[in-house]
Amino acid sequence: MSEIQNIQWFPGHMTRTRRQIEKSLKQVDIVAEILDARVPLSSRNPVLKSIINNKPKVVLLNKCDLADAAQTAKWVNYYKENKITAIPIDAKSGKGLNQLMPACKEVLSEQIAAWNRKGMVGRPIRIMIVGIPNVGKSSLINRMCKGGKNGKAEVQDRPGVTRQNRWFTIGKGFELLDTPGVLWPKFDDKLVGEKLAFTGAVRDEVVDIEALASRLLEEVTKLYPNAVNDRFQTGLENITEMEGYDILCAIGKKRGMLISGGEINTERAAYTVLDEFRAAKLGRITLDQI
Ligand code: G4P
Repeated sequence: MSEIQNIQWFPGHMTRTRRQIEKSLKQVDIVAEILDARVPLSSRNPVLKSIINNKPKVVLLNKCDLADAAQTAKWVNYYKENKITAIPIDAKSGKGLNQLMPACKEVLSEQIAAWNRKGMVGRPIRIMIVGIPNVGKSSLINRMCKGGKNGKAEVQDRPGVTRQNRWFTIGKGFELLDTPGVLWPKFDDKLVGEKLAFTGAVRDEVVDIEALASRLLEEVTKLYPNAVNDRFQTGLENITEMEGYDILCAIGKKRGMLISGGEINTERAAYTVLDEFRAAKLGRITLDQI
């Protein structure tokens, strides 16, 4: 899995990204950090805290339709204990998104009271989405903007806002910056890199697909001992002690994935395992457990 560790962002790119986000941050009141509910730790960018400084934040645990509901509830609680509001959402269907605006209001209650005292009653709350690639930022923005008039996003141009940045009115008194902050993922830990690759945050073309699927099978079996057998009906009795590659071969054999000479087509089996995991066909699985 060394390939994953070798995918590093160039320092120059990181600096540019950071500056762009810092510039956009000046225009917003609150940041919505979007994480993948299946890997809430691994999908975090460790330097976000220093980028957003003291800007208020809410956390969105996206793709909760694919994650283990009990684990998601534990993560929400973990954030609550750390005085951060976390909301499980499914940006694809829109589930949970109605909680975003009330949560922002709650987090900004002191700021809103201060605006009111200064006569700025009804000043809109401006929100910006940040997150690593593939976590669901565009899906979320598209979903939120469907609330606009005639099912379309209401766009406003405002002086002083860079030309590419536009504001969507997403509800009474709320505006969303159209461009999300794209954060770089953390690859310096092997397992974090692997988990990002399992969930599709790293393009499959840049990894060894069979090694990746084998590692996924090991990790899933460790946390959910019955999930693989239930899905693939391999009948393996000692699956929790097996090497991932051997489980992969058993799956290929069971599914009749053979190449000439009767050899198992492990590449096809690997794509099947990854596709079915990502579609939650092995069940709703959380790989960062709490
Ligand atoms: P990004 O802007 O952060 O890079 O992510 P984007 O919205 O493009 O979403 C990446 C993929 O994740 C998309 O799938 C999208 O449909 C899917 N996705 C986003 N939010 C959710 C969610 O809450 N639940 C589920 N199940 N999927 C979600 P894709 O395969 O790239 O495209 P498509 O399936 O939409 O065609």
